[in-house]
Amino acid sequence: MTTGHRTDGAAADLGYAGRTTALWASGDYAKTVTELLCPLGRALVRASAIRPGDRVLDVAAGTGNVAIPAALTGADVIASDLCPELLDRGRELAQTRGARLHWQVANAEALPFDTNKFDAVLSCVGMMFAPQHQCAADELVRVCKPGGIIGLINWTSDGFMSELMTTIKPYLDAPQPGSQPAARWGDAAYVRDLLGDRVSNFTAEQHTLRVVMFADGEAFRDYMKAHCPPPRAAYQRIANDPRRVDELDDKLAALAERYLAGTPSTMEWDYLLVTARKRQSPECVSPAMPSAVSHNSIRSDQFRDDKQCTRDDARRV
Ligand SMILES: C[S@@+](CC[C@H](N)C(=O)[O-])C[C@H]1O[C@@H](n2cnc3c(N)ncnc32)[C@H](O)[C@@H]1O
Repeated sequence: MTTGHRTDGAAADLGYAGRTTALWASGDYAKTVTELLCPLGRALVRASAIRPGDRVLDVAAGTGNVAIPAALTGADVIASDLCPELLDRGRELAQTRGARLHWQVANAEALPFDTNKFDAVLSCVGMMFAPQHQCAADELVRVCKPGGIIGLINWTSDGFMSELMTTIKPYLDAPQPGSQPAARWGDAAYVRDLLGDRVSNFTAEQHTLRVVMFADGEAFRDYMKAHCPPPRAAYQRIANDPRRVDELDDKLAALAERYLAGTPSTMEWDYLLVTARKRQSPECVSPAMPSAVSHNSIRSDQFRDDKQCTRDDARRV
């Protein structure tokens, strides 16, 4: 993908939006969605019970992993993201899949949409990357209609993807001061607190995306290095330092080896699926909100697609 953005040290001069865009436009994110992450988008649309005519906002939508399947149900969808390059790619993909929807550049922390506008506000491993968590959560709730649904998929705090993010972090540009770690969104109690008593019917389920694509740790590393934006951006940043490249090579291969098991070699990437309803009005707030997270489970075979290299299983947390 060609972009007007640099992913080396000069990105530090671009400001938050520029750095975020530079990072996510590197590599080929659409390929990782098609080959690895697409079951998540469909799972979130299904769990959020999107219906024809619903007004749906996908926040940090990337190339439309959620927005496209949502639009294919007949919903009226806006895909929003900070990275225009990913939205452009999403537009192309939507066209090939016959999905009609709108695409809009937007920061998850300052959504350019009216209050109480959407029947459903969704985000799949997306808004968890916005640095100010409470601010992003407040925006989700604000733009959702009373009675509307908020649906999130976040990588779990102690799962593979969070370990991957921790591994590459020292090789990326430093986050802006005060940034909160994305991995916290993978903890159900933390998300519950961020949404607060503005929502009811809070559910949080842990699921597993089973990835049957990599024969060994080196195959995983080489794929991530070539295609997946954050690792690729990290490698681009250290390209002139062979010692650090070797170091990151070893760390990524070793990390993947720890998660590869079975025949054929399979990795388990855990994620949290959260749904909640925005309360109808302040007077509906119960003084005794349940503090515990409710644990529903979804049948794993609802998400299986044997044609994919990934499979999505659910289990109770
Ligand atoms: C892992 S991708 C997920 C994309 C998509 N939701 C999916 O399921 O494939 C993370 C996305 O978050 C976007 N992003 C990061 N920070 C953002 C912010 N503050 N506001 C809006 N989008 C943001 C990135 O541009 C990127 O598209």
